[in-house]
Amino acid sequence: MPTRMVAPSWLLLIGLAIAGVLQAQPDSNGFINVDCGLPGTANSMDDTTKLSYAPDAAFTDSGSNHNISAEFVTPTLSKRYLNLPRRRAQLLHAPILVAGLKYLIRAEFMYGSYDGLNRLPVFDVYTGVNFWSMVNVTSADLNGMVTLEAIVVVPDDSAQVCLVNTGSGTPFISSLELRPLKSSIYPQASTTLGLVLLGRRNLGPTDATDIVRYPDDPHDRVWTPLVNTTAWDTISTTSTVQNYQNDEFEAPSKVMQTAITPLNGSSNSSIDELFWYSELQPKDPTPKYIAIMYFSELQLLPSSAVRDLYITINDVFWSTFMPDYLYSGYVGDQTPTWSGSDRYNISISTTANSTLPPIINAVEVYSVISTTNVATDSADVSAITDIKVMYRVQKNWMGDPCVPKSFAWDGLTCNYPISSTPTITGVNISFSGLNGDMSSSFADLKGVQYLDLSYNNLTGSIPDALSQLTSLKVLNLSSNQLSGSIPYGLLKRIQDGSLTMRYDDNPNLCTNAASCQPPVKGKKSKLAVYVAVPLVLVVVIISVVALLFCFLQRRKKQGGTCMHQMSASAIFPTQGVQSTRLMFVNLYHVHRIGDVRLSHASAAPRPQGGDTHDALSSLNLGNRRFSYKELEMITNNFERVLGQGGFGKVYDGFLEDGTQVAVKLRSQYSNQGVKEFLLEAQILTRIHHKNLVSMIGYCKDGQYMALVYEYMSEGALQEQLAGNGRNGRYLTWWQRLRIALDSAQGLEYLHKGCNPPLIHRDVKATNILLNTNLEAKIADFGFSKAFNHGNEAQISTNALVGTPGYVDPEYQATLQPTTKSDVYSFGVVMLELVTGKPTILSDPEPASIIQWVRRRLARGNIEDVVDTRMRGEYEVNSVWKVADIALKCTMQESAQRPTMTDVVAQLRECLELEEGRRTGGGTRGSFYAGSSNNNANLGYYDSQSTDASQISTAFEMEHNFGRAVGMGTDEKGLHLQLVNSSLQYP
Ligand SMILES: *[C@@H]1O[C@H](CO)[C@@H](O)[C@H](O)[C@H]1NC(C)=O
Ligand SMILES: *[C@@H]1O[C@H](CO)[C@@H](O)[C@H](O)[C@H]1NC(C)=O
Repeated sequence: MPTRMVAPSWLLLIGLAIAGVLQAQPDSNGFINVDCGLPGTANSMDDTTKLSYAPDAAFTDSGSNHNISAEFVTPTLSKRYLNLPRRRAQLLHAPILVAGLKYLIRAEFMYGSYDGLNRLPVFDVYTGVNFWSMVNVTSADLNGMVTLEAIVVVPDDSAQVCLVNTGSGTPFISSLELRPLKSSIYPQASTTLGLVLLGRRNLGPTDATDIVRYPDDPHDRVWTPLVNTTAWDTISTTSTVQNYQNDEFEAPSKVMQTAITPLNGSSNSSIDELFWYSELQPKDPTPKYIAIMYFSELQLLPSSAVRDLYITINDVFWSTFMPDYLYSGYVGDQTPTWSGSDRYNISISTTANSTLPPIINAVEVYSVISTTNVATDSADVSAITDIKVMYRVQKNWMGDPCVPKSFAWDGLTCNYPISSTPTITGVNISFSGLNGDMSSSFADLKGVQYLDLSYNNLTGSIPDALSQLTSLKVLNLSSNQLSGSIPYGLLKRIQDGSLTMRYDDNPNLCTNAASCQPPVKGKKSKLAVYVAVPLVLVVVIISVVALLFCFLQRRKKQGGTCMHQMSASAIFPTQGVQSTRLMFVNLYHVHRIGDVRLSHASAAPRPQGGDTHDALSSLNLGNRRFSYKELEMITNNFERVLGQGGFGKVYDGFLEDGTQVAVKLRSQYSNQGVKEFLLEAQILTRIHHKNLVSMIGYCKDGQYMALVYEYMSEGALQEQLAGNGRNGRYLTWWQRLRIALDSAQGLEYLHKGCNPPLIHRDVKATNILLNTNLEAKIADFGFSKAFNHGNEAQISTNALVGTPGYVDPEYQATLQPTTKSDVYSFGVVMLELVTGKPTILSDPEPASIIQWVRRRLARGNIEDVVDTRMRGEYEVNSVWKVADIALKCTMQESAQRPTMTDVVAQLRECLELEEGRRTGGGTRGSFYAGSSNNNANLGYYDSQSTDASQISTAFEMEHNFGRAVGMGTDEKGLHLQLVNSSLQYP
C-alpha cells in the first residue's frame, strides 16, 4: 500500500498531484468520483453505473491506506469498498469545482474491519468547515455501511470533506462522489443552509432491488425502492413522465413511472404507512426536517374523474395536490418545517370532491445543517500551506487552519471577526525541526503578530520582507543556523520599539551591521569545519536510530502494496444501498432499528473540542505513539511479564479504555535487534489481516523502543501443544484444524495479499499466538522480507534466519528465501498439530518430526502418529489429509510444495470433514475403511520413500548447528544468524 505516513518528497507530491488532477477531472456530466484508498494512479470502474473512480492520492496529504478484512470481501462487493484510507483528521480536496455552485456530495463508509481490530469507530464528518454528520458504524459488514449525502453550495473552488477523530476510533472513508447541480434545483439549499439526506424512496416498483440512479437520474441521486405488497397497491406506466419547466427537483421519469395507492382503494381511503424517525446527534440534538413528495397521474382519466390529494404530517395539514397526467408534480417545504417530534407520520388521503383514491410516487426527507462557518482568509491559507509543504510540518496541519475553532492547527492563533473571514495572528513552530531557508511565505501572513521559529535548523538569511508585516510584534528566531545580517527594515522596527526580536544562538548571524562582511573563503570556512566536526559526530551518534527508521520508512514506500486479490464485481446499487443509512433511517419497516438508534443517540454524550484535539495529536503513523511514561502506566511499572525474547521482555498492560495489550519492550542494554524491531513496526503498520497479530502502537522514546500489540490471552501455540494451555487441557482436533486454517490464512495473506510477497522466514509454533477464542494469528515479523518473484537475486541476503527444525533445506542451501520456505516451516507446524511432538525428537533415535512421521506413515497407520491426547476424537480422513498436506509442504524441493493458497483450500476441506463428525454426520474415531482418499495417500508416501535420505541430510544439517533440541521460550535466542561464508553443507 502506498502509505503516505511520512511526508513524501516534495517532487513526489507534485507528481501525484498532477496525475491525480488529470484523472479526477470531472467527467462529461461534471461528476467527480473518488475511490478512497485505491492504490496506484489508475481509476477503477463501477460495474453497475460504469462510472469511473479515481484514487484519492492527489486529494489528501494524510492518513494511510488499508484493505478491508478478507472476511468482509464478498464476490459482489463493489470494488470501491475493498480498500480505504484512514485519516488522522481529514481530508479530501476535490479540485476543479466552481465556487458558488451547488453540489450533491455523497460519502460512503464501509469499515470492513480494515484494521483487523473489529472495533467499530464513531467519528464526525465535516463538509468544509461546517459540521455535516456523525458517522456511527454499527457493524463491520455491508449492513453497517454508512452513506452520507448532502446538497450544499460550495463557497470555494475546492471542497473539503474532513473526517474528525472524536476519540472513538480512527476515521476512515471508502468513497466520495460529487455531482454538480443547477442552482435552481433544491432551492432550499443556500450558502448558509445545507440539506442532509435522511431518506429518498421510490414508491411503487415491484422489485426491491431496483435502485434508480445515474443514468436514469441525470443528477445521480440514489432512489431506493420501498416495496410492501401487503400495505398498498402499485400503479405504473411505461410512458415517460415529464418535468415541468423550471422544475425545482427534476425527479427522474423512471421514479415517477410508479406510484402506490391504497389496497382496493376507494376515494375515501388513505395511505398511512409512511413515516420517518427523527435522528438525533450530539451535535444536532433538535434536527429540523424538510419533506418533499412527488405525485403524477399515471392513468388517463375520464373527464369526470377527480383525484385531489389531502396531505398531513403528524395530523397537521400540509397541502392539497391534484396530480397532472404524466407530469412530475411535487410538494416541498420551502424552509425547515418539522421539528420537536420523535416520529413523523405521513398521511395521504383525498378531499371530499375527489372520486379516486390517493397516490404518491416518491418521497424525500432532509434535515438541515448550518453552513455559516466561513473558511480562513484565503491568502493566509495559501501562505501557511506553502510553509507546511516547504517544511513538511508533521503536526495536525490538515483542513482549514483556523476553522472549526476546536480543530485549529497546532501552533496557530487565529482571530475570528464577526463579519469577515478568520485570519492567522500567531504562528509558533519552534522545536519543529524546520530545515532550509526561511520561507518568503511568512511575509504573506499579513495579520501575524507573533512569529516563533526558534529552536529549528533554519539557514540562510532573514528575509527583509518580514519588516513589511505591520502587525508583527514579536519575532523569535533564536537557536537556528541563520546567517547574514539582520535586515535594515527589521533593525529599524526594533529601534522604534514596534518589534521585539530574538535572534541569539545563531552562530553565523552577524548581529553588528557595521562590521558585517561578506563571508571570506579559506580560513573562515576551515574554522567552520573544526566547529562542525564534533557537532556532526554528535548528530551522527544520536541520529543513527532515526536514520535507520527513515531508511526503513523509505524502503517501505518502495515496499509495494498489500491487497486482496479476490475478484469483486460491483453490486452497488442493488445490495449496497439496501443496507445503507438511506434505507435504514427512513420510512416504514425500520421501527426497531429506529427506536434503538433514537434512544442511544439521545442518551450518549460525547467528548467535544479539547478532548478531540488531544486524540488527534496523539496519533501518528496511523498507529498510536506511546511515551515511555505511558508504557509505565499501561504496564503498571512493567509488573507482569508475559514472555521473554531476545529483544527483551513482553509485558501485560491495559490501555486507558481497559483494552488489554501486550507490550514488547526492547531491552535498553541490547544492541541487537534494533533493525528487526523497526522492521516489525514498519511491517505491522502496513499489513492488516485478522490472522496477523495487530499492532496498536509503538514507542520510540529516547533509547526506549517498544511495540504494543493486541493481547493474545492464550499465548503461543507451542505452549498449548505442550499442554501448558488453559486448565492444562489439550487442544481438540477441531481446535487444531481451526488454528491451522487461521495461521495458513495469515501466511497466505503475506504471500498473496502483499505485492511483492512478504516472506515471514520464522514460521513456528511459538510465533503463532492464540486469543481467548483460540483464534490464531501469526506474530513476530522481525525477520520478514519482501520477495520479488522476477528478481530473486536482488533480495538474496547472506544471513540465514529461522529456527532449527523449521528451516527449509533449499533455503539453507541457496540462502535465498522464497514463499515456499514459509510453506516448509508451516508444514512442520502442521505435523506438530497432528502429532503433538516437538520438531526434533530424540526417541528412539534423533530424528526430525518430518522423518519420524514419514517413516511411521509408510507403515500405513495414522494412529501411529496422531497425538494420543486427542483420545481418538477426530475424523480420521481429515487427520490423514492434514498429514498429507504437511508432508507435501515439507518436500525437499520447493517446486513440489503447494502454495499457501492450496494449503488454505485443503485445510478448509479438512475442517469441513471434522465438522461433519462433530455434528454427528461423520465416522467418529473410526478407521477410514478403504476410502480411496487414504489409499491414494498411502501410495503417495510409498512412492516418495526415496525422500527419507534427503530428509535425513536436511536433518543432519540442522543438527550440525549444535542447537538445543526442543524449543525453549527464548524464541530469538534460537534464531540462526549465519553468514554465507561460514555455512557448510554437504
Ligand atoms: C407491510 O405493511 C404491513 C401493513 O402496514 C406491515 O404490517 C408489514 O410489517 C409491512 N412489511 C414490511 C416488510 O415492512
Ligand atoms: C452508535 O450506535 C450504537 C448502536 O446503535 C450506540 O450504542 C452508540 O451509543 C452510538 N454511539 C454514539 C456516539 O452515538
